[in-house]
Amino acid sequence: MEIVVSGIRSTGNLHLGNYFGAIRNFVKMQEANHCYFFIADYHSLTTHPTPADLHNSVKTVLVEFLACGLDPEKSTLYIQSDVPAVAELYLLLNMNAYVGELERCTSFKEKIRTMPNNVNAGLLTYPTLMAADIIIHKAHKVPVGKDQEQHLEMTRTFAGRFNRMYDVDYFPEPVAYNFGEELVKIPGLDGGQKMSKSDNENSAIFLADSPEAIRKKVMKAVTDAGPTEPNQPKPQPIENIFQLMQAFSAPDTFSHFSNLYNRCEIRYGDMKKQLAEDIISYTTPFREKMETLANDEAYLGKVARMGAEKARESASRTIREVREIIGFKEM
Ligand code: TYM
Repeated sequence: MEIVVSGIRSTGNLHLGNYFGAIRNFVKMQEANHCYFFIADYHSLTTHPTPADLHNSVKTVLVEFLACGLDPEKSTLYIQSDVPAVAELYLLLNMNAYVGELERCTSFKEKIRTMPNNVNAGLLTYPTLMAADIIIHKAHKVPVGKDQEQHLEMTRTFAGRFNRMYDVDYFPEPVAYNFGEELVKIPGLDGGQKMSKSDNENSAIFLADSPEAIRKKVMKAVTDAGPTEPNQPKPQPIENIFQLMQAFSAPDTFSHFSNLYNRCEIRYGDMKKQLAEDIISYTTPFREKMETLANDEAYLGKVARMGAEKARESASRTIREVREIIGFKEM
Protein backbone atom coordinates (compact mmCIF):
# COMPACT_ATOMS: atom_id res chain seq x y z
CA MET A 1 0.00 0.00 0.00
CA GLU A 2 1.37 3.43 -0.92
CA ILE A 3 1.81 6.22 1.59
CA VAL A 4 0.11 9.50 0.77
CA VAL A 5 0.72 12.78 2.60
CA SER A 6 -0.64 16.27 2.02
CA GLY A 7 -1.54 19.45 3.88
CA ILE A 8 -3.42 22.73 3.69
CA ARG A 9 -2.40 25.93 5.46
CA SER A 10 -4.74 27.12 8.18
CA THR A 11 -5.23 30.64 6.89
CA GLY A 12 -9.03 30.63 6.74
CA ASN A 13 -11.81 29.00 4.76
CA LEU A 14 -11.09 26.62 1.90
CA HIS A 15 -11.79 27.87 -1.62
CA LEU A 16 -12.61 26.09 -4.85
CA GLY A 17 -8.91 26.00 -5.79
CA ASN A 18 -8.04 24.10 -2.60
CA TYR A 19 -10.94 21.74 -3.17
CA PHE A 20 -10.30 20.99 -6.81
CA GLY A 21 -6.51 21.02 -6.62
CA ALA A 22 -6.17 19.00 -3.44
CA ILE A 23 -9.07 17.86 -1.26
CA ARG A 24 -11.06 16.16 -4.00
CA ASN A 25 -8.00 13.96 -4.50
CA PHE A 26 -7.55 13.36 -0.77
CA VAL A 27 -11.08 11.95 -0.66
CA LYS A 28 -10.46 9.63 -3.62
CA MET A 29 -7.07 8.50 -2.35
CA GLN A 30 -8.15 7.56 1.15
CA GLU A 31 -9.90 4.46 -0.20
CA ALA A 32 -6.85 2.50 -1.28
CA ASN A 33 -3.80 4.11 0.31
CA HIS A 34 -2.28 4.80 3.68
CA CYS A 35 -3.12 8.51 3.96
CA TYR A 36 -1.97 11.34 6.24
CA PHE A 37 -3.73 14.69 5.75
CA PHE A 38 -2.90 17.59 8.00
CA ILE A 39 -3.60 21.23 8.73
CA ALA A 40 -0.38 23.22 8.32
CA ASP A 41 -0.60 25.66 11.22
CA TYR A 42 3.19 26.10 11.55
CA HIS A 43 3.28 27.12 7.88
CA SER A 44 0.50 29.66 8.40
CA LEU A 45 2.81 31.61 10.74
CA THR A 46 5.10 32.48 7.81
CA THR A 47 2.44 34.89 6.52
CA HIS A 48 0.26 35.37 9.60
CA PRO A 49 2.84 35.73 12.44
CA THR A 50 0.19 36.87 14.93
CA PRO A 51 -2.98 35.28 13.58
CA ALA A 52 -6.16 36.80 14.92
CA ASP A 53 -7.31 33.39 16.02
CA LEU A 54 -5.04 30.46 15.28
CA HIS A 55 -7.25 27.94 17.03
CA ASN A 56 -10.40 28.93 15.14
CA SER A 57 -8.63 28.90 11.77
CA VAL A 58 -7.47 25.35 12.45
CA LYS A 59 -10.96 24.33 13.55
CA THR A 60 -12.46 25.83 10.37
CA VAL A 61 -10.20 23.72 8.17
CA LEU A 62 -10.87 20.58 10.21
CA VAL A 63 -14.64 21.09 9.84
CA GLU A 64 -14.22 21.65 6.11
CA PHE A 65 -12.01 18.55 5.71
CA LEU A 66 -14.72 16.43 7.29
CA ALA A 67 -17.54 18.11 5.35
CA CYS A 68 -15.70 17.37 2.09
CA GLY A 69 -15.69 13.67 2.91
CA LEU A 70 -12.39 12.98 4.62
CA ASP A 71 -12.95 10.06 6.94
CA PRO A 72 -10.91 9.92 10.17
CA GLU A 73 -11.30 6.14 10.22
CA LYS A 74 -9.76 5.77 6.76
CA SER A 75 -7.14 8.56 6.84
CA THR A 76 -5.00 10.04 9.58
CA LEU A 77 -6.28 13.62 9.91
CA TYR A 78 -4.12 15.78 12.15
CA ILE A 79 -2.82 19.20 13.02
CA GLN A 80 0.83 19.81 12.12
CA SER A 81 1.78 21.39 15.47
CA ASP A 82 0.47 18.30 17.31
CA VAL A 83 3.45 16.41 15.89
CA PRO A 84 6.67 18.03 17.17
CA ALA A 85 8.84 15.41 15.43
CA VAL A 86 8.09 17.37 12.22
CA ALA A 87 9.87 20.39 13.71
CA GLU A 88 12.90 18.25 14.59
CA LEU A 89 13.15 16.80 11.10
CA TYR A 90 12.80 20.35 9.70
CA LEU A 91 15.79 21.42 11.82
CA LEU A 92 17.87 18.47 10.63
CA LEU A 93 16.96 19.01 6.95
CA ASN A 94 17.85 22.70 7.24
CA MET A 95 21.46 21.71 7.99
CA ASN A 96 21.71 20.28 4.48
CA ALA A 97 19.57 22.85 2.63
CA TYR A 98 21.46 25.66 0.90
CA VAL A 99 20.44 29.30 1.06
CA GLY A 100 21.02 29.65 -2.70
CA GLU A 101 18.53 26.94 -3.64
CA LEU A 102 15.96 28.24 -1.13
CA GLU A 103 16.31 31.78 -2.48
CA ARG A 104 15.66 30.56 -6.01
CA CYS A 105 12.28 29.12 -5.07
CA THR A 106 9.47 30.88 -6.99
CA SER A 107 7.13 31.12 -4.01
CA PHE A 108 9.88 32.80 -1.94
CA LYS A 109 10.59 35.33 -4.70
CA GLU A 110 6.89 36.08 -4.92
CA LYS A 111 6.65 36.65 -1.17
CA ILE A 112 9.61 39.08 -1.30
CA ARG A 113 7.59 41.02 -3.85
CA THR A 114 4.20 40.85 -2.10
CA MET A 115 5.21 41.17 1.55
CA PRO A 116 8.56 43.04 1.58
CA ASN A 117 8.15 44.03 5.25
CA ASN A 118 8.09 40.47 6.54
CA VAL A 119 10.69 38.40 4.66
CA ASN A 120 11.26 36.02 7.57
CA ALA A 121 13.49 32.93 7.80
CA GLY A 122 10.35 30.78 7.95
CA LEU A 123 9.46 31.93 4.43
CA LEU A 124 12.96 31.12 3.18
CA THR A 125 12.87 27.65 4.75
CA TYR A 126 9.20 27.00 3.87
CA PRO A 127 10.28 24.20 1.45
CA THR A 128 12.31 22.37 4.10
CA LEU A 129 9.37 22.39 6.53
CA MET A 130 7.16 21.12 3.73
CA ALA A 131 9.70 18.40 2.90
CA ALA A 132 9.76 17.42 6.60
CA ASP A 133 5.93 17.15 6.58
CA ILE A 134 6.08 14.79 3.64
CA ILE A 135 9.06 12.59 4.35
CA ILE A 136 8.33 12.23 8.08
CA HIS A 137 5.82 9.55 6.99
CA LYS A 138 8.08 8.34 4.12
CA ALA A 139 5.42 9.35 1.57
CA HIS A 140 5.30 8.16 -2.04
CA LYS A 141 2.55 10.43 -3.37
CA VAL A 142 1.51 13.99 -2.54
CA PRO A 143 -1.85 15.21 -3.91
CA VAL A 144 -1.43 18.96 -4.56
CA GLY A 145 -2.30 21.66 -7.07
CA LYS A 146 0.06 22.79 -9.80
CA ASP A 147 1.45 25.66 -7.71
CA GLN A 148 3.15 23.16 -5.38
CA GLU A 149 5.13 21.34 -8.09
CA GLN A 150 8.40 23.14 -7.34
CA HIS A 151 8.08 22.43 -3.61
CA LEU A 152 7.75 18.74 -4.42
CA GLU A 153 10.85 18.90 -6.59
CA MET A 154 12.72 20.40 -3.64
CA THR A 155 11.36 17.68 -1.36
CA ARG A 156 12.89 15.09 -3.69
CA THR A 157 16.16 17.00 -3.63
CA PHE A 158 16.25 17.00 0.19
CA ALA A 159 15.21 13.36 0.49
CA GLY A 160 17.76 12.23 -2.11
CA ARG A 161 20.49 14.35 -0.53
CA PHE A 162 19.83 12.81 2.89
CA ASN A 163 20.11 9.32 1.41
CA ARG A 164 23.39 10.17 -0.33
CA MET A 165 24.94 12.09 2.56
CA TYR A 166 24.38 9.27 5.02
CA ASP A 167 24.78 6.52 2.43
CA VAL A 168 21.37 4.97 3.05
CA ASP A 169 18.31 4.14 1.02
CA TYR A 170 15.94 5.52 3.62
CA PHE A 171 13.56 8.18 2.24
CA PRO A 172 11.50 7.52 -0.90
CA GLU A 173 11.46 10.45 -3.38
CA PRO A 174 7.78 11.50 -3.42
CA VAL A 175 5.85 12.80 -6.44
CA ALA A 176 3.14 15.45 -6.79
CA TYR A 177 -0.02 13.62 -7.73
CA ASN A 178 -3.48 14.27 -9.12
CA PHE A 179 -5.30 10.99 -9.38
CA GLY A 180 -3.98 9.95 -12.76
CA GLU A 181 -4.38 13.36 -14.37
CA GLU A 182 -2.32 16.53 -14.84
CA LEU A 183 -1.95 18.76 -11.79
CA VAL A 184 -4.63 21.46 -11.86
CA LYS A 185 -4.73 25.19 -11.33
CA ILE A 186 -8.15 26.75 -10.73
CA PRO A 187 -8.10 30.37 -11.96
CA GLY A 188 -9.33 33.44 -10.08
CA LEU A 189 -12.43 35.51 -10.80
CA ASP A 190 -10.35 38.69 -10.92
CA GLY A 191 -8.65 37.72 -14.19
CA GLY A 192 -5.62 36.29 -12.33
CA GLN A 193 -4.26 32.87 -13.24
CA LYS A 194 -4.74 31.30 -9.81
CA MET A 195 -7.65 31.42 -7.39
CA SER A 196 -6.13 32.59 -4.14
CA LYS A 197 -7.53 34.20 -1.06
CA SER A 198 -4.62 36.54 -0.48
CA ASP A 199 -4.54 38.43 -3.79
CA ASN A 200 -8.02 39.86 -3.87
CA GLU A 201 -11.05 38.98 -1.79
CA ASN A 202 -13.20 38.76 -4.92
CA SER A 203 -10.83 36.32 -6.62
CA ALA A 204 -11.87 33.34 -4.53
CA ILE A 205 -15.12 31.50 -3.96
CA PHE A 206 -15.14 29.67 -0.64
CA LEU A 207 -16.89 26.37 0.00
CA ALA A 208 -18.61 28.16 2.89
CA ASP A 209 -19.93 31.04 0.73
CA SER A 210 -23.71 31.51 0.66
CA PRO A 211 -25.55 31.24 -2.68
CA GLU A 212 -26.01 35.05 -2.69
CA ALA A 213 -22.28 35.61 -2.11
CA ILE A 214 -21.42 33.19 -4.93
CA ARG A 215 -23.83 34.89 -7.37
CA LYS A 216 -22.43 38.30 -6.49
CA LYS A 217 -18.79 37.26 -6.92
CA VAL A 218 -19.35 35.39 -10.19
CA MET A 219 -21.41 38.22 -11.71
CA LYS A 220 -18.54 40.62 -10.86
CA ALA A 221 -15.91 38.38 -12.53
CA VAL A 222 -13.81 40.25 -15.07
CA THR A 223 -14.95 39.93 -18.72
CA ASP A 224 -14.69 42.08 -21.86
CA ALA A 225 -16.84 43.31 -24.76
CA GLY A 226 -16.80 39.86 -26.37
CA PRO A 227 -15.12 38.35 -29.45
CA THR A 228 -15.34 40.20 -32.74
CA GLU A 229 -14.24 37.35 -35.02
CA PRO A 230 -15.18 33.65 -35.06
CA ASN A 231 -12.87 31.28 -33.15
CA GLN A 232 -10.84 34.11 -31.65
CA PRO A 233 -8.31 33.09 -28.94
CA LYS A 234 -9.63 33.88 -25.45
CA PRO A 235 -8.00 36.59 -23.33
CA GLN A 236 -6.95 35.37 -19.84
CA PRO A 237 -10.04 36.57 -17.87
CA ILE A 238 -12.39 34.92 -20.39
CA GLU A 239 -10.30 31.76 -20.47
CA ASN A 240 -10.68 31.72 -16.66
CA ILE A 241 -14.49 31.74 -16.81
CA PHE A 242 -14.38 28.88 -19.32
CA GLN A 243 -11.95 26.92 -17.14
CA LEU A 244 -14.24 27.34 -14.14
CA MET A 245 -17.17 26.20 -16.22
CA GLN A 246 -15.21 23.17 -17.36
CA ALA A 247 -14.55 22.26 -13.72
CA PHE A 248 -18.01 22.90 -12.26
CA SER A 249 -20.63 22.66 -15.04
CA ALA A 250 -21.87 19.74 -17.12
CA PRO A 251 -19.86 19.02 -20.31
CA ASP A 252 -22.77 20.01 -22.59
CA THR A 253 -23.14 23.36 -20.80
CA PHE A 254 -19.44 23.98 -21.39
CA SER A 255 -19.68 23.12 -25.09
CA HIS A 256 -22.86 25.20 -25.49
CA PHE A 257 -21.07 28.35 -24.27
CA SER A 258 -17.86 27.48 -26.19
CA ASN A 259 -19.90 27.29 -29.40
CA LEU A 260 -21.58 30.62 -28.66
CA TYR A 261 -18.14 32.16 -28.08
CA ASN A 262 -16.79 30.76 -31.33
CA ARG A 263 -19.79 32.16 -33.23
CA CYS A 264 -19.40 35.59 -31.50
CA GLU A 265 -22.87 35.17 -29.98
CA ILE A 266 -21.82 34.84 -26.37
CA ARG A 267 -23.49 36.89 -23.64
CA TYR A 268 -21.24 36.78 -20.60
CA GLY A 269 -24.11 37.71 -18.27
CA ASP A 270 -25.94 34.48 -19.22
CA MET A 271 -22.77 32.43 -18.95
CA LYS A 272 -21.94 33.80 -15.49
CA LYS A 273 -25.50 33.21 -14.26
CA GLN A 274 -25.25 29.58 -15.32
CA LEU A 275 -21.78 29.18 -13.81
CA ALA A 276 -22.92 30.66 -10.48
CA GLU A 277 -25.85 28.22 -10.27
CA ASP A 278 -23.59 25.26 -11.11
CA ILE A 279 -21.08 26.27 -8.44
CA ILE A 280 -23.91 26.68 -5.92
CA SER A 281 -25.20 23.16 -6.66
CA TYR A 282 -21.67 21.86 -6.23
CA THR A 283 -20.93 23.56 -2.90
CA THR A 284 -24.34 23.46 -1.17
CA PRO A 285 -24.01 19.91 0.26
CA PHE A 286 -20.59 20.82 1.70
CA ARG A 287 -21.87 24.04 3.24
CA GLU A 288 -24.76 22.25 4.89
CA LYS A 289 -22.48 19.63 6.44
CA MET A 290 -20.09 22.32 7.67
CA GLU A 291 -22.89 24.08 9.51
CA THR A 292 -23.75 20.89 11.42
CA LEU A 293 -20.17 19.84 12.13
CA ALA A 294 -19.04 23.25 13.38
CA ASN A 295 -21.22 22.85 16.47
CA ASP A 296 -19.97 19.39 17.37
CA GLU A 297 -16.95 20.33 19.49
CA ALA A 298 -16.78 16.92 21.14
CA TYR A 299 -16.51 15.09 17.81
CA LEU A 300 -13.93 17.56 16.44
CA GLY A 301 -11.80 17.12 19.57
CA LYS A 302 -12.01 13.34 19.24
CA VAL A 303 -10.96 13.45 15.58
CA ALA A 304 -7.99 15.73 16.33
CA ARG A 305 -6.76 13.58 19.24
CA MET A 306 -7.11 10.36 17.29
CA GLY A 307 -5.21 11.84 14.32
CA ALA A 308 -2.47 13.29 16.53
CA GLU A 309 -1.88 9.93 18.13
CA LYS A 310 -1.60 8.05 14.82
CA ALA A 311 0.58 10.74 13.20
CA ARG A 312 2.91 10.92 16.21
CA GLU A 313 3.42 7.19 16.12
CA SER A 314 4.57 7.21 12.50
CA ALA A 315 6.60 10.45 12.92
CA SER A 316 8.46 9.37 16.04
CA ARG A 317 9.46 6.10 14.38
CA THR A 318 11.02 8.08 11.51
CA ILE A 319 12.77 10.59 13.75
CA ARG A 320 14.21 7.79 15.90
CA GLU A 321 15.64 6.12 12.80
CA VAL A 322 16.90 9.41 11.37
CA ARG A 323 18.73 10.23 14.60
CA GLU A 324 20.34 6.83 14.48
CA ILE A 325 21.36 7.24 10.83
CA ILE A 326 22.93 10.65 11.50
CA GLY A 327 24.75 9.28 14.53
CA PHE A 328 23.08 10.76 17.62
CA LYS A 329 23.59 8.31 20.49
CA GLU A 330 22.47 8.21 24.08
CA MET A 331 25.33 8.78 26.57
P1 TYM B 1 -2.17 25.97 0.35
O1 TYM B 1 -2.72 25.99 1.72
O2 TYM B 1 -1.83 27.25 -0.32
O3 TYM B 1 -3.12 25.20 -0.61
C1 TYM B 1 -3.56 23.91 -0.28
C2 TYM B 1 -3.69 23.06 -1.52
O4 TYM B 1 -4.61 23.66 -2.43
C3 TYM B 1 -4.00 23.77 -3.69
N1 TYM B 1 -4.44 25.00 -4.37
C4 TYM B 1 -4.87 25.05 -5.62
N2 TYM B 1 -5.00 24.08 -6.55
C5 TYM B 1 -5.49 24.44 -7.75
N3 TYM B 1 -5.85 25.71 -8.07
C6 TYM B 1 -5.73 26.71 -7.17
N4 TYM B 1 -6.10 27.96 -7.47
C7 TYM B 1 -5.21 26.41 -5.87
N5 TYM B 1 -4.97 27.13 -4.76
C8 TYM B 1 -4.49 26.24 -3.83
C9 TYM B 1 -2.50 23.84 -3.43
O5 TYM B 1 -1.78 23.41 -4.57
C10 TYM B 1 -2.37 22.88 -2.27
O6 TYM B 1 -2.29 21.55 -2.74
N6 TYM B 1 2.50 24.56 0.98
C11 TYM B 1 1.15 24.08 0.96
C12 TYM B 1 0.69 23.45 2.28
C13 TYM B 1 1.58 22.36 2.74
C14 TYM B 1 1.74 21.08 2.14
C15 TYM B 1 2.69 20.40 2.94
C16 TYM B 1 1.14 20.46 1.03
C17 TYM B 1 2.40 22.41 3.82
N7 TYM B 1 3.08 21.23 3.94
C18 TYM B 1 3.07 19.09 2.64
C19 TYM B 1 1.55 19.16 0.75
C20 TYM B 1 2.49 18.48 1.54
C21 TYM B 1 0.26 25.27 0.68
O7 TYM B 1 0.62 26.38 0.88
O8 TYM B 1 -0.94 24.97 0.31
